[in-house]
Amino acid sequence: MRIEPLVATEGNHNLSDYEKTYANFNWENVNEAFSWHETGKVNMAYEAIDRHAESSKANRTALYFEDADRKESYTFQDMKSLTNKAANVFKEQSSIQKGDRLFIFMPRSPELYFALLGAIKMGAVAGTLFEAFMEVAIYDRLLDSEAKVLVTTKALLERVPVEKLPHLEKIFIIGEDVVESETTIDFNKEFANARDQFDIEWVDLEDGLVLHYTSGSTGKPKGILHVHNAMIQQYQTGKWVLDLKDDDIYWCTADPGWVTGTAYGIFAPWLHGISMLVVGGRFSPQNWYGALQNYKVSVWYSAPTAFRMLMGAGNHVLEDYDLSSLRHVLSVGEPLNPEVVKWGNEVLHQRIHDTWWMTETGAQMICNYPSMMIKPGSMGKPVPGVTATIVDDQGIEVPPFTMGNLAIKKGWPSMMRQIWNNKAKYDSCFMNEEWYVSGDSAYMDDDGYFWFQGRIDDVIMTAGERVGPFEVESKILEHPAVLEAGVIGKPDPIRGEIIKAFISLKEGIEPSEELEAAIKLFVKTGLAAHAAPREIEFKEKLPKTRSGKIMRRVLKAWELDLPTGDLSTIGDD
Ligand code: PRX
Repeated sequence: MRIEPLVATEGNHNLSDYEKTYANFNWENVNEAFSWHETGKVNMAYEAIDRHAESSKANRTALYFEDADRKESYTFQDMKSLTNKAANVFKEQSSIQKGDRLFIFMPRSPELYFALLGAIKMGAVAGTLFEAFMEVAIYDRLLDSEAKVLVTTKALLERVPVEKLPHLEKIFIIGEDVVESETTIDFNKEFANARDQFDIEWVDLEDGLVLHYTSGSTGKPKGILHVHNAMIQQYQTGKWVLDLKDDDIYWCTADPGWVTGTAYGIFAPWLHGISMLVVGGRFSPQNWYGALQNYKVSVWYSAPTAFRMLMGAGNHVLEDYDLSSLRHVLSVGEPLNPEVVKWGNEVLHQRIHDTWWMTETGAQMICNYPSMMIKPGSMGKPVPGVTATIVDDQGIEVPPFTMGNLAIKKGWPSMMRQIWNNKAKYDSCFMNEEWYVSGDSAYMDDDGYFWFQGRIDDVIMTAGERVGPFEVESKILEHPAVLEAGVIGKPDPIRGEIIKAFISLKEGIEPSEELEAAIKLFVKTGLAAHAAPREIEFKEKLPKTRSGKIMRRVLKAWELDLPTGDLSTIGDD
């Protein structure tokens, strides 16, 4: 099925001739968009903030922030001063140096953005932790990254096992009534007194910028390191894919705890000097439609689960709002089902443009562009400068319409540069030294469009958030009643997948509704709310390989009523 563009964008978009651009494109040409092209010195925060503050955009609003308690706006000039102040606070109050990790663990607020860009200005690698993380999740990430500085709030600090983190030197608390100690510093007090001039730490394009932890199917979460060079692709996709224009008001709904919230919730829009909206607090259809209307949002980047939740609220809710300023809507993180595309057409009067990428790719890779015909259900075509293909398990390219591993030719500008402390894991992501293998299965059609089929590994995508079954299973196993646990993603009409746990109990313990609720709560309060199983099924025994590994493949087959395949490796059959 093909649909024509709803909004006539011909001649009104940044990538007018995809095929021609794709054939002739060279990333080198993008360098001219940046000041370092002339100076040889780079810092993402300079390119995203200071450069605009020193231009005719100085008084343009960079950030509109709104949540239940605050409604504020900051110009690029304000952002320059405030990020300078944050940088001065970190520099004066800790021993943090270029390349050291500074983590931010807090809900969205203007201070989060000041702190993150301030950290980058002083050459630190900025790590982010989603506010829903609980103790184990935080501990694993801060320990692995050897974070030296943490920026958080008083309430969230309770979840940080400070005494078990030997590298953590200073904790900056944002908020009121902060009790200071040798290690704990009142950020607001220091910030108020800090100088608003700062000498930026100029770094190399290949120096560390951000560290995002993400999940695989085995082992602890892995730290994906991106470098300043990522700006080349984040800028260029901001132009082609987000289709940003000078007078846009842009809203990316992702939290900076995830890669979308930094790459497209900070860097891409601000590299273009665009006004950006951040909405804090919880999702509600009224808040979201209200934000689109009140800020006259023109470009909106969100996720299928959010669109499905808006759909679920009913089209009548929309009748109270005027969304006529919207001109470009995009989606990421999960398969964008054709029903959602249809809803976008009929109700929002917008084509929803799917984009595919992942934490490891650092920027959008396969996308639908404003100039392109959309095939509902397809993720689109590779960004010019990116070569994508489908390979078999030996790394050999397969013909169109053959399902296989979605792979990207190594060397795109925003490619991850390291998996923190784990070179072997990093190397294992590449096949034949040539292809980065995504872990997704897909096929390509004969027009070069890519069609997502699923994850090859056991990674769960729930409400657009990536959850590793191993992390959840490890937490469940800490519960005193549990003997064994296996976790899978179960298809769900709203969230894409939900987390389902199969659990066997220790001898003498009987399954009960109370126990089920207790285990859910145990994961929710110990790991993260979004990682807690929504469903639990107690089993006498779980299927295992001879080496004792739980076979999630079989659990999934049970769940979906599919044949379980060859169970001959199951140990205690
Ligand atoms: O399975 C793919 C899915 O999200 C995974 C990456 O998750 P994460 O690293 O958390 O990054 C999410 C946003 C950048 C992918 O391996 N995914 C992402 N985009 C799409 C998608 N699945 C289907 N369609 C998409 N457009």
